[in-house]
Amino acid sequence: MDKFLIRGGKALRGTVAISGAKNSALPVMAAALLTAEKVTLHNIPKVRDLTTMSKLLAFMDAKVSVTEFPASDYVIEAPTLNHAEAPYDLVKTMRASILTLGPLLARKGVARVSLPGGCAIGARPVDLHLSALEKMGVEIITSHGYIEARVPNHGVHPGRLKGARIAFDRITVTGTENILMAAALAEGETILENAAREPEITDLIVLLRKMGAQIEGDGTSTLRIHGVAELHGTEHSVIPDRIEAGTFLMAGAITGGDLTITHCAPEHLGSVIAKLREAGVPIEIVDKSTMRVRGAKKLVASNMKTEEYPGFATDMQAQYMALATQAEGTSLITETIFENRFLHASEMTRMGAHISIDGHNAVVRGPAELSGTTVQASDLRASAGLVLAGLVANGETVIDRVYHIDRGYEQIVEKLRGVGAEIERVHGTSTVAPAS
Ligand code: EPZ
Repeated sequence: MDKFLIRGGKALRGTVAISGAKNSALPVMAAALLTAEKVTLHNIPKVRDLTTMSKLLAFMDAKVSVTEFPASDYVIEAPTLNHAEAPYDLVKTMRASILTLGPLLARKGVARVSLPGGCAIGARPVDLHLSALEKMGVEIITSHGYIEARVPNHGVHPGRLKGARIAFDRITVTGTENILMAAALAEGETILENAAREPEITDLIVLLRKMGAQIEGDGTSTLRIHGVAELHGTEHSVIPDRIEAGTFLMAGAITGGDLTITHCAPEHLGSVIAKLREAGVPIEIVDKSTMRVRGAKKLVASNMKTEEYPGFATDMQAQYMALATQAEGTSLITETIFENRFLHASEMTRMGAHISIDGHNAVVRGPAELSGTTVQASDLRASAGLVLAGLVANGETVIDRVYHIDRGYEQIVEKLRGVGAEIERVHGTSTVAPAS
C-alpha cells in the first residue's frame, strides 16, 4: 500500500486549483440512471470513488464513456438497465453506492443493493433511506446482507413509486439525495421535510431540473417534488469541492503561507471561513471563485462544533483539529454528526499534540511542537488532517494507508508540491485497499 512521506516546516505559497466535488459527482452520476438518454457530466474529480461509481453503473449495463482515464468528463447512457443491482464487492469499497437505490426503484421498480455496513467513523445505518422509500410504496426486505426492494403494481402505473409526505427524523445527505431522485419520477407530489441543505443537494436539484424534474425549495429544509413520467438527457458541470478548498485554506493557514485558491466557491465555505478568521487567519475573498489565505500573526484557539450545512462540516473536523494543535489556548471540538470521528486524534497525539477525548468532545491544548513519525490514516478526512499535521511537524512524517485519501482528493501530492510542500508518494507492493 502507498504511503506519503512529508518533510514539514515549509510555508505553502502560490496558487492551487480546486477540483469538482466528490460528494456532488457521486449523486449526479447515479442520477444518470433515471433516464434512457445521454447525460454528459463535467468537472468530475479524478478520484477513486468516482471510478468505483462508474464501475457500478457499468455493472448495471449503463454505458459509461470517457476520453481519458481517470476522467473528468463522463458521458453516461442507460437505455436499458439489465442488472438493477449494487453488488457487495463494489458497495464494500464505497458506501455511496446506496445512491443507486432511489434511481433504480424509480426507473425499474426493483433494486437489489448490498447493505453498506459501518465504517471507521460510525455505524452509518441507512434506515432513514429505507423508511422514506417504504412511505413511497416500496416493499423492502433485507436478507443475506442485501436490501431487496420492489414497487408493487398499481393499476394503470405498474411499478411506479408514489409521492408521499416524508419527514426525516434526522438530517441525512445521501438520504435526501436518494429520495429526491426517487421522487422525481414518482406519481404525484412528494414533500420532504427536514431535508439536508448541503450545496451538493442543490447541485443535484439543478441537474434533475435540467433533466425535466419539477422541484421547489432548494437551499431550504423542505423540498417539494412533483413527479414526472419521464426525464431526459442533459449536460452538467459539478460544483467545486468545498472540502478540498477548505483543506487548502487550512494548509495555507497552518504553514503560515500565502495561498491563492482558484476554481472554488467561497460562498459554500461560510462557516469554515468565519471560524478561521476567528482563529486569526486572514482570508480574502478575491472574487466568486477565488480566495487568498495567509498565515496568522498569531493563531488563537477557538471552539468548534460540527453541524449540518450551513454549519461547520464534519468533513473539515480533522483538518481543523490539526490547526487547533498550533493555536494558542484551548480549543473544544465537538463532533455531532458521527459517533467515532476522532481516530486521527490519537495519531496527532503520537506526533506531540495535546488532545484529550471525552465522548463527542475533543479538547486540544496548543500550541504544541509536532514531531514527525509514522502514522496511520483511518479514513478520508482523517488522512487530510494528518497531512496538515505533517506539514508543520519537525522532521519526517510517514502516513500509512493513504488509499483513504485517494478516494476523495485529486492529485493531493502534486497540488501540495506545486505550492512548495515537501511531500512524496512512496509506492507500496500490495494493491488491496480494505473497505471504508
Ligand atoms: C454524506 O454521508 C457524505 N457522503 C459524507 O462525506 C459526510 O461526512 C456526511 O454526508 C455528513 O455531512 C457523501 O455525500 C457521499 P448522513 P452520508 O446520512 O449521507 C445518521 C466524506 O468524507 N444516519 O448525512 O452517509 C448517520 O449515521 C464523507 O466525503 C442514520 O442514522 O451521511 C450519521 O450519524 C464521509 N440513518 C448522520 O445520520 C440513516 O438512514 C448523518 O449521516 C442515514 C444517516
